[in-house]
Amino acid sequence: MKTLSDQAIGTAHGKIILIGEHSVVYNEPAIALPFPAANVEVRIKAIDGESQIHSSYYDGSLANAPDSLNNLKKIIETICQDFSVSTSGMQIEILSLIPPERGMGSSAAVATALIRALHHYFEQSLSTDLLLHYIEISEKIAHGNPSGLDARITSGTKPVFFVKTKEPETFDLQVSGYLIAADTGLKGQTREAVQDVALLLKKSKRKTKQLLSSLGSLTNQAKQAIERDDISALGTILSKAHQHLSDLNVSNAQLDRLVCTAIKQGALGAKLTGSGRGGCVIALAKTVEQARHIAKELMKNGAVETWVHSLGADKHE
Ligand code: PMV
Repeated sequence: MKTLSDQAIGTAHGKIILIGEHSVVYNEPAIALPFPAANVEVRIKAIDGESQIHSSYYDGSLANAPDSLNNLKKIIETICQDFSVSTSGMQIEILSLIPPERGMGSSAAVATALIRALHHYFEQSLSTDLLLHYIEISEKIAHGNPSGLDARITSGTKPVFFVKTKEPETFDLQVSGYLIAADTGLKGQTREAVQDVALLLKKSKRKTKQLLSSLGSLTNQAKQAIERDDISALGTILSKAHQHLSDLNVSNAQLDRLVCTAIKQGALGAKLTGSGRGGCVIALAKTVEQARHIAKELMKNGAVETWVHSLGADKHE
């Protein structure tokens, strides 16, 4: 029996697609990274009566939560059912620093943190397979047909080399450099952008196929640059990928502006990340000072938030 002082915590982090978005839909590889700079914490504590949710979107009873939280409601119901316990008597607080719909895996990360918190709360163990199973239930409601990439990355600690039809391959990242992420403040448009690339493929088959397969080769080259710890080469590859994504018509003026600003301010390369048409850009810098300078200039040029993330050679940032 839970007492009123019991509290359980679950955490998770965001994700960044380094390279390979859109082409990954056509079985080309993609590389995605865990992004601990943007994270989420879910706290559960025992209360009397109906369960309550506190989040930046909604404060109120679980029963009256809006449809946008249906994925989380479903997780709570499913897990409580699996543990044969009541869904009432919990105060669930969601503290997320991951902006939603920016291609940073916000929904999968919140689901991961919630699933972990519920398992701690009910003092149950949670295997990776079971965690992925529950995240998938949530992501199907939030996104329809998730590739599973967000689930893997937001719940795992290692970068992933991902090909849709294969088991994801994790690898160690030890690159001497920094990644800057900057949010345009605009929601990404995953569904529309993916549909438009499919239309483009019908209309201009040869050119579009070439762009997609070239993005695949750039992803393979990026993996090699990572293995050689060659941040300059990696930067050049990312900038080329942005040009291809722009040719696929998934960039927009704000993303292009932030990419141009980053390059002008000394970034080794920059691109949009995720579906495009909004969301975030990423850029690379050799030193943390350069990264902070670029982040500051991005804020002056329209970004609403920036993050600086070490690519592994210096774990302190
Ligand atoms: O912006 P996000 O995180 O939803 O990423 C979309 C990535 C795409 O390659 C455009 C679509 C997909 O399903 O992989």
